[in-house]
Amino acid sequence: MLTALITGATAGIGAAFTRRLAGDGFRLVLVARDRERLAAAAENLRKRYGVPVEVLPADLSTEAGLSAVEERLRAGGVDLLVNNAGFGHPGEFLEVPVAEELTMLRVHCEAVLRLTYAALQYLTERGRGGVINVASVAAFFSRGTYSASKAWVVNFSGSVAAEVPGVRVMALCPGFVRTEFHRRAEIDVSGVPDFLWLDADYVTRVAMRDLALGKVVSVPSLRYKAIVGVGRLIPANRVAWISARVGRRYR
Ligand SMILES: NC(=O)c1ccc[n+]([C@@H]2O[C@H](COP(=O)([O-])OP(=O)(O)OC[C@H]3O[C@@H](n4cnc5c(N)ncnc54)[C@H](OP(=O)(O)O)[C@@H]3O)[C@@H](O)[C@H]2O)c1
Repeated sequence: MLTALITGATAGIGAAFTRRLAGDGFRLVLVARDRERLAAAAENLRKRYGVPVEVLPADLSTEAGLSAVEERLRAGGVDLLVNNAGFGHPGEFLEVPVAEELTMLRVHCEAVLRLTYAALQYLTERGRGGVINVASVAAFFSRGTYSASKAWVVNFSGSVAAEVPGVRVMALCPGFVRTEFHRRAEIDVSGVPDFLWLDADYVTRVAMRDLALGKVVSVPSLRYKAIVGVGRLIPANRVAWISARVGRRYR
């Protein structure tokens, strides 16, 4: 039986990964901060899919949380790591305290780096398995620390993928997905048109298909592939100008 460890496993895209992977017969290790929610999610998955589910409460913005998850990965036996935990900020760069910007870098970049490193110790010995790092379509645009951190995830995943024969490392870049993300960050998405919204279960289906195909970057849906393609043709200073004006607003 294969084992998958998913961070941010109790809501949104992470929860969709747990359903998909449990359905595929994976044993699961769920990581998030809220202990009660973790326990409830684990119980649901055990009942619905009949797979063993472990919980690992951890705040990935803290040294203790990061070390606990690294230790679990170094102990071995995790065949697929999904670095999914993440969040948005309720404002533009200068409106958010710098400490919160650094917390974002810790969860989006340091945690992804350290957990990928720990998982690869086991995976490269076996010459198989995978790591999915959840980035965003925002990685290809310019919108503060969020976009910059996700661009790092895409670049990092691509370079690691080239160094680990047999092991698949992929950056997953969804566009807008209906989850708790925008409400938690107090981002007003009322102006985002319906056709730009993706379903979390669809995103994880595409992710697993693209991982099996050996893709290094996965952008779910044709419309977002087109948006990323067009974004790459526009000069960087225009991309920043457009990114600042399109999509979400802060409350
Ligand atoms: N929704 C979108 O439109 C969208 C688009 C592109 C990319 N993404 C990316 O997709 C990923 C998942 O987002 P989502 O939309 O599914 O968000 P979500 O619904 O808000 O879920 C976030 C999950 O991460 C956990 N989490 C948050 N901070 C954490 C921390 N410090 N340590 C450990 N766990 C933490 C949360 O549980 P606890 O609060 O209990 O810790 C929860 O399980 C993120 O990396 C996000 O940037 C989202």
